Amino acid sequence: MITAGAKTRGVGESVQQASSLKWDRVWIGMSIATMVAGRIPYGKLEQAALAVSGERIAWIGAADEARNRAREDGIPIAEAVGLWMTPGLIDCHTHLVYGGNRVAEFEQRLCGVPYEEIARSGGGIQSTVNDTRRADFESLAAAAATRARRLMAEGVTTLEIKSGYGLDLATERRMLEVARSLERDLPVSIETTFLGLHALPAEYRERRGEYVAAVCGPWLEALTAAGLVDAVDAFCENIAFTAEETDEFLEAAGRLGLRAHVHAGQLSDMGAAQLAARHRALSADHLEYLSAEGADALAQAGTVAVLLPGAYFTLRQTTPPPVPLLRAAGVPMAVSTDGNPGTSPGMSMLLALNMACNLFGLTPEEAVAGATRAAARALGRESEIGTLEVGKRADFALWRIERPAELCYNLGANPCAGVIYKGTERVA
Ligand code: NIG
Ligand code: FE
Repeated sequence: MITAGAKTRGVGESVQQASSLKWDRVWIGMSIATMVAGRIPYGKLEQAALAVSGERIAWIGAADEARNRAREDGIPIAEAVGLWMTPGLIDCHTHLVYGGNRVAEFEQRLCGVPYEEIARSGGGIQSTVNDTRRADFESLAAAAATRARRLMAEGVTTLEIKSGYGLDLATERRMLEVARSLERDLPVSIETTFLGLHALPAEYRERRGEYVAAVCGPWLEALTAAGLVDAVDAFCENIAFTAEETDEFLEAAGRLGLRAHVHAGQLSDMGAAQLAARHRALSADHLEYLSAEGADALAQAGTVAVLLPGAYFTLRQTTPPPVPLLRAAGVPMAVSTDGNPGTSPGMSMLLALNMACNLFGLTPEEAVAGATRAAARALGRESEIGTLEVGKRADFALWRIERPAELCYNLGANPCAGVIYKGTERVA
């Protein structure tokens, strides 16, 4: 009989804490990449078992022991021999709610017009803003749900969604409401981010200060009071907002107790990483342009570097984020799709893992950690999700793969064999 606090040693020397929770269901026979940090690659357990109780992980240990207990106590068994289990993947940076698409701009770029030029001439983010403002709640929600389902089919159980294509209070609110509604309509967990400083909307072109003041003041307050904001974000870039404007926004968010993400160093180094670190931001994202001082600042603040190879690939950039610098400084690295209509359309989490390895030089273990443990941290949810440990939320995925590196190996194939959200298997 397992008692509270008893230790179970699984194959692979990993020690797991058992709990006294009653088992509702147990998965038996698979290998588990728990992604718990430590000496064992991928926190791996072989011939293992994992039991759930309600929405939580109740027990992790050896298959034989689980089989005996399940038989004795009449607990339903899910046979998983030959499969791998990982924590549910976490896509910690997306712009999944938007109207229209940007295929015309894609064509323009491939005919030689640069992204910055398209943005400056009223295309880019502004064109998605126009389409999003025109779209009603239902059409935005339907399109976003389709995109979310595609990610879920690849093992994603938690998804961050940013606003930032409204740039007026009503549309920003609608975007965040759509993001929240996805959590009611789908089993996936959602984190919402108010990306108030994404682009200066055309109607404020001559009134920049007024726009920033509105975002930092009444808009932020209203959306937060409505319970729509889990965190904030700003695009700190020469085509978007200055370090001073970003600072003002992060300051205002901090006063309301909100943590931040920052789009930092995507196209140039404006010191945004240092700024993010100064505000103890949850994450600094993109980071193609990052100095050694920036990397050190992130490390000291515990801010996660979110790497977005889909945007790098689409913009055909040639300077990858300085991964060796981040590694040496000890900055946790997450990997995400940046799913958005402009720079990362229709992006897949598994493809992001592949690109993080092939384009940015992450090891497969770093990439898988980037989509689980580090991504949880980038959302400030590491106590709940991101690794498979007793007491954490029972969000996990099963895969038809030989070894965890295979999650990074394929170009477009999806070996996902099942996804369990809060203890329950659901089809996306
Ligand atoms: O993360 N960098 C700013 N935001 C998005 C792009 C948005 C867009 O082009 O629509 C990004 O790449
Ligand atoms: Fe982004």
